[in-house]
Amino acid sequence: MPATVIVGLQWGDEGKGKTTDFLAEQVSMAVRYQGGDNAGHTVVLGDEVFKLHLVPSGVLYPHISCVIGPGVVVNPATLIAELDMLAERGIDTSKVRVSRNAHLILPYHVAQDAAMEARLGGNAVGTTHRGIGPAYADRALRIGLRVEDLVDERSFRARLARVLPDKNALLARLPGDEQFELEPLVALAMAWGQRLRPHLADTVWLVQDALAQGDHVLLEGAQGTLLDLDHGSYPFVTSSNPIAGGACTGGGIGPLQVDEVIGVMKAYSTRVGSGPYPTELTDAIGAGIASRGNEVGTTTGRPRRVGWFDAVPLRYAVAVNSASSIMLNKLDILSGIDEICLCVAYEIDGRRVEAWPSSAEQLAGATPIYERFPGWSEPIHAARTLAELPENARRYVSALETAAGVPIVLVSVGPERSQTIERAFRPMRRRPSLAPAPNLGSASSRGPGDLS
Ligand code: GDP
Ligand code: IMO
Ligand code: MG
Repeated sequence: MPATVIVGLQWGDEGKGKTTDFLAEQVSMAVRYQGGDNAGHTVVLGDEVFKLHLVPSGVLYPHISCVIGPGVVVNPATLIAELDMLAERGIDTSKVRVSRNAHLILPYHVAQDAAMEARLGGNAVGTTHRGIGPAYADRALRIGLRVEDLVDERSFRARLARVLPDKNALLARLPGDEQFELEPLVALAMAWGQRLRPHLADTVWLVQDALAQGDHVLLEGAQGTLLDLDHGSYPFVTSSNPIAGGACTGGGIGPLQVDEVIGVMKAYSTRVGSGPYPTELTDAIGAGIASRGNEVGTTTGRPRRVGWFDAVPLRYAVAVNSASSIMLNKLDILSGIDEICLCVAYEIDGRRVEAWPSSAEQLAGATPIYERFPGWSEPIHAARTLAELPENARRYVSALETAAGVPIVLVSVGPERSQTIERAFRPMRRRPSLAPAPNLGSASSRGPGDLS
């Protein structure tokens, strides 16, 4: 039975929560593999709206075991609040497990994130201020504290005592000058540990055992490919690897255990935070999309920047994730727009570029080249087959599919589970491309600075 990875193909907020929830009925385990409470995944069930930051979206099904893997950075306060919120709303959280090896986001990471952003001023990344970058940095420096330390007071105190003077010295030099004391932090952490103890596990074996006994495991990415530390427009990225490969490192599975990678994208684009965004719309059309699509950050409440769909990074995203199929969300939001633009290439320094530029500087100088599609005026929430969509909507979906080079198998026309068009079977492995790869060989399409 398969391991399926669900991965965002854009800048996050593609509707991964809806996708996970839609597919979760058929699986027995859902795993978060990276990121932390910077994520905000929304699931709509009738009148009820669930906004999840750490617990995988599959939690709403009672039969699913939910795992927070070792690649996630966990703020225990957020996790406890989320477990309490779910329990209060009648959701069973007894099968939620968090990896003992996952790193902790502690209050000084949150302070460091905010202070570093404040110091950057106009050059800030626009982080969620959740302490994500500092926690992953400490993990890489091997000075991080882990979930397992929450239930070992001696080890927690000793590790914290080693790191806290350096943290306080750093914070003293940053805006805000927040300082932290050892014993109150130890007391807080031990209370967290007490509460979370029943949920701690060596999650890699849970996932491996599930796969070994033939269970279907869903691995739910957070953020998106264009925010990936290695593949996004650095430094305007997050500090983890949302791409499908991150499911291996952060979930504890091997590459050959992944059977299926479903890329999630929406019919236009959004971006929260700073960084280059060639197809950004700052006009009334953009404002209309933002308002109809309710494009407000789930975690921070910040307005999301909105733009036309950009097919240049799409092909890159499909490639680096080895996406085998795609779920296209929020097609309904484009109803009522006279003409829809799809960015198929950039002009950079007078040259046509079809390959996603690797540097933020190149991207900042990119002018989008658009193909234009006639829109449709009618609402499409009720469509349950492609045939029920207006012809112009079908044409647009088909253009996106050609640009992606892999099949769009699910089309979402509303936030609810039922508002979904199931188009075809899902290929378990990537099929040969439907469209030719971008012409990287010709001088006209090569990015500036590429070797000839
Ligand atoms: P995620 O972070 O990728 O899970 O996405 P978010 O939950 O942050 O943002 C997606 C938003 O769009 C949520 O409010 C979803 O309920 C909503 N949504 C998802 N799919 C659709 C759709 O097809 N149509 C509409 N109108 N809303 C959708
Ligand atoms: P989901 O899982 C959209 C963005 C932030 C900022 C950058 C770095 O809901 O799709 P960070 O706090 O991670 O250090 O911020 O990444 N960002 C997201 N944007 N959706 C998310 O998550 C995001 N998580 C982080 O806005 O630009
Ligand atoms: Mg989100």
